[in-house]
Amino acid sequence: VKSIAVLTGGGDAPGLNAVIRAVVRTGIGHGLKVWGIKNGFGGMVENQVIEMTDEYVAGILPRGGTILGTTNRDNPFNYPTMQGGKTVYKDMSGQALNNLRQRDIEALVVIGGDGSLKIGSEFYQLGLPVVAVPKTIDNDIPGTERTFGFDTAVGVAADALDRLHTTAESHHRVMVLEVMGRYAGWIALHAGIAGGADCILIPEIPFQIDAIIAKIEERQQRGRLFSLIVIAEGAYPQGGEISVSRIVEGSHEKIRLGGAGEKLARQLESLTGIESRCTVLGHVQRGGTPTAFDRVLSTRYGVAAAECLFEGAFGNMVALRKNEIIRVPIVDIAGKANNVTANDELLKAGRSIGICFGD
Ligand code: F6P
Repeated sequence: VKSIAVLTGGGDAPGLNAVIRAVVRTGIGHGLKVWGIKNGFGGMVENQVIEMTDEYVAGILPRGGTILGTTNRDNPFNYPTMQGGKTVYKDMSGQALNNLRQRDIEALVVIGGDGSLKIGSEFYQLGLPVVAVPKTIDNDIPGTERTFGFDTAVGVAADALDRLHTTAESHHRVMVLEVMGRYAGWIALHAGIAGGADCILIPEIPFQIDAIIAKIEERQQRGRLFSLIVIAEGAYPQGGEISVSRIVEGSHEKIRLGGAGEKLARQLESLTGIESRCTVLGHVQRGGTPTAFDRVLSTRYGVAAAECLFEGAFGNMVALRKNEIIRVPIVDIAGKANNVTANDELLKAGRSIGICFGD
């Protein structure tokens, strides 16, 4: 391989720039020409390609976001085009591949979450040599113990809990913190443990409002007149459903999670009579500078992805297992999810200290 490209797809995550930098430096160091595709897979269709140099990636290691830009809307296999004033979805994968061919780009590093991995896997099946890097603050990609961005998001959420702790204690309130994570409870679980929450609610275990109230009341009896609850945006009560809003874009329906925390706070206030407030942490978890752990992991991933290309180990995602970087076939993981399981060691620890529920 003499010429490669890198793109960032889906929602941003702290550490994206560190991966880009590592891919570019490793590639250039091995005498390759490295290109950057701007704005995710949309930029591949629209031919938004730039040559990457050492200069271009200088100083980006600690920066949040992605210098290449991203979008979680554009899928070249089902791409929005305008026809007669209307949006029509078409397969534009051929054009996207042509844009790479014109520049003699032979292989692609896709830094992305589940959606981008699925698209990357489709391109791989069409013959494009692809290597993927697992990105998401949600940590819900199978095949790896860690996605980069997760550690930073957990740190932000744990810090928020520390801050909520003092105001909750002063006002004798119940504070509910809603964190991201989509259908996975990893951020809530880790941040809740790190931030000393009294209850952790995750999508994998539908919660019982009575158990939460019992916990709050038991604390009250011990003179602990406040409680901290972490709820994942995808968590929901037993017999209830996930709190979502639906956004229609053309013929596509997009689901946005959120609202679970506010609902819970209102319910707890009316059932216990204790003043309750909800804080939705939202995109604060995704922005800003990555932790040292995420910078290191992202750098290891970027170097390993470039090495896969030199060695012709295409169709793999680089992954972390037992603190080693390994390769996992993308087809084995595309379209699948990694959720908190009943046997998870941290979940069991949470149960042992009385802050996680379920059997
Ligand atoms: O997957 C990352 C994530 O931040 C989720 O935790 C969250 O549900 C979603 O993306 C938010 O997406 P958007 O940035 O499109 O609102």
